[in-house]
Amino acid sequence: MLVPAYLFVASSLLSVTVAGSFSRFTDLVTFGDSFTDTENVSDGGVAWPVYAAGYANVTLHPFARSGATCSRAVTPRTAPPVKESQIPAFQKTLKNTTLSLEQTVFTVWIGTNDVGTQGGLITGDAPRGVTIVNVTECAVNLVSTMYDLGARNFIFMNMIPLELTPLYSSDGHPNRYWRFQRNTTEWSIFMNELVSSGNALSSLLLRTLAPRLPGASIAIFDSHALFADMYVNPGAYLNGTAPLEVKTSVRQCDHELGGGPVGGACPPGAEGSDRDSFLWFDELHPSEQAHRVVAREIAATMQGNSTWATWYS
Ligand SMILES: *[C@@H]1O[C@H](CO)[C@@H](O)[C@H](O)[C@H]1NC(C)=O
Ligand SMILES: *[C@@H]1O[C@H](CO)[C@@H](O)[C@H](O)[C@H]1NC(C)=O
Ligand SMILES: *[C@@H]1O[C@H](CO)[C@@H](O)[C@H](O)[C@H]1NC(C)=O
Ligand SMILES: *[C@@H]1O[C@H](CO)[C@@H](O)[C@H](O)[C@H]1NC(C)=O
Ligand SMILES: *[C@@H]1O[C@H](CO)[C@@H](O)[C@H](O)[C@H]1NC(C)=O
Ligand SMILES: *[C@@H]1O[C@H](CO)[C@@H](O)[C@H](O)[C@H]1NC(C)=O
Ligand SMILES: *[C@@H]1O[C@H](CO)[C@@H](O)[C@H](O)[C@H]1NC(C)=O
Repeated sequence: MLVPAYLFVASSLLSVTVAGSFSRFTDLVTFGDSFTDTENVSDGGVAWPVYAAGYANVTLHPFARSGATCSRAVTPRTAPPVKESQIPAFQKTLKNTTLSLEQTVFTVWIGTNDVGTQGGLITGDAPRGVTIVNVTECAVNLVSTMYDLGARNFIFMNMIPLELTPLYSSDGHPNRYWRFQRNTTEWSIFMNELVSSGNALSSLLLRTLAPRLPGASIAIFDSHALFADMYVNPGAYLNGTAPLEVKTSVRQCDHELGGGPVGGACPPGAEGSDRDSFLWFDELHPSEQAHRVVAREIAATMQGNSTWATWYS
C-alpha cells in the first residue's frame, strides 16, 4: 500500500506544532504482554510502566498481562489477550473513574508472543492462514478500538529485535521457553524477517490511520531501534558492576534437550548491582536496566521529545 508523501509532511508539521501541549498528561494506561506486566514482572525487579509513571509524574493504570497476544482470534493462547480481555478490563474501569481521556496516554506493546514460540508464528502453531500481516493489522486496529472508546493519545511501541534475544539468537541454547531441537540459525533469520516486516507494516498502517482519527495523536515508539542500539552500544545504557553483557542473560535457564518442564525453575544468576550490566533478564525478557531506559524514553515521548519516537496527528 502506498501512502501519499504529503501525509507524512503534514503529520511531521503537526507533530511539531502540538509538541508544547504534551506536558499536560496526567495518566498512563498500558496494554501488552510480559514486557509491560507490572504484577507478574519479567525483569527480576520493577517493570518500565512503574518507572515511566514516576519519571513523568503521571498516574499509572496497568492492564498488560504476561503471555498475552493481540487477539484470541489471531493467535490463541490462554493468557488474557489485549483485544478480548485487557481493553474490556479498561472499559470497566473507565465507567467507574474520572479519568480525563484528553490528558491520558495509552501505550500498546504487543507482538512478542504472536510471533514467538508456544502458539505463535515461528513454530507454525498459529491457526492456518494467519501471518505477520494478520498479527500486525490486529495490533494497529487496537488503536482504532481505543479511539472509539474515547482515547486520543497513543504510544505504539513496535517489536524489539527478538532475533538478538538468547531464545531466538543463532547461538541460543535450550532453555525454559524452548527445550526442543531447533536450528538456531534458521530461527534467528526467520525472527528477523517477522519482526522487521511487522514493524515496517505497522509504521505504514499507523501513518495512514493517524489523519483519519480526528483529534488523535499517535507516537510510533521505535523499540526496535532502541534495543538495537543498546545491543551495539551497551556502554551508553548499561551501568552494572559486572562486565557489560548483551548476549547472555542475568538468569540463564539452561535445559537439557527435551528435559525439564517449560517454565521450570532456574538458578538465580547474577545478583545485586551486577544485574544492571545485562541487556536481558532471561532468554526472552529485557533486564530491569533496559526497562529503566524504556521508561526514560517513554516519559520523554510523553513530553514530546524522545529521539526514539515520532508523533503523528
Ligand atoms: C506531580 O503532579 C502533581 C499533580 O498531578 C503535582 O501536584 C506535583 O507538583 C507534581 N510533582 C512534580 C515533582 O512535578
Ligand atoms: C508470569 O510470567 C511468566 C514468564 O513470562 C509465565 O511463564 C507465567 O505463566 C506468568 N504467570 C502468570 C500468572 O501470568
Ligand atoms: C488473515 O489474513 C488473511 C488474508 O488477509 C485472511 O484471509 C484471514 O481471514 C485472516 N485470518 C484471521 C484469523 O484474521
Ligand atoms: C466502582 O466504584 C464503586 C464505588 O466507588 C466501588 O465500590 C467499586 O469497587 C468500583 N468498581 C471497580 C470495578 O473499580
Ligand atoms: C541450520 O540452518 C542453516 C540455514 O538454513 C543451515 O545452513 C544449516 O546447515 C542448518 N544446520 C543444521 C544442523 O541443520
Ligand atoms: C543504573 O542507572 C539507573 C538509572 O537509569 C539507576 O537507577 C541504577 O541504580 C543504576 N545501577 C547501578 C548498578 O548503579
Ligand atoms: C525533553 O525536554 C525536557 C524539558 O523540556 C528535558 O528535561 C528532557 O531532558 C528532554 N529529554 C530528551 C530526551 O531530550
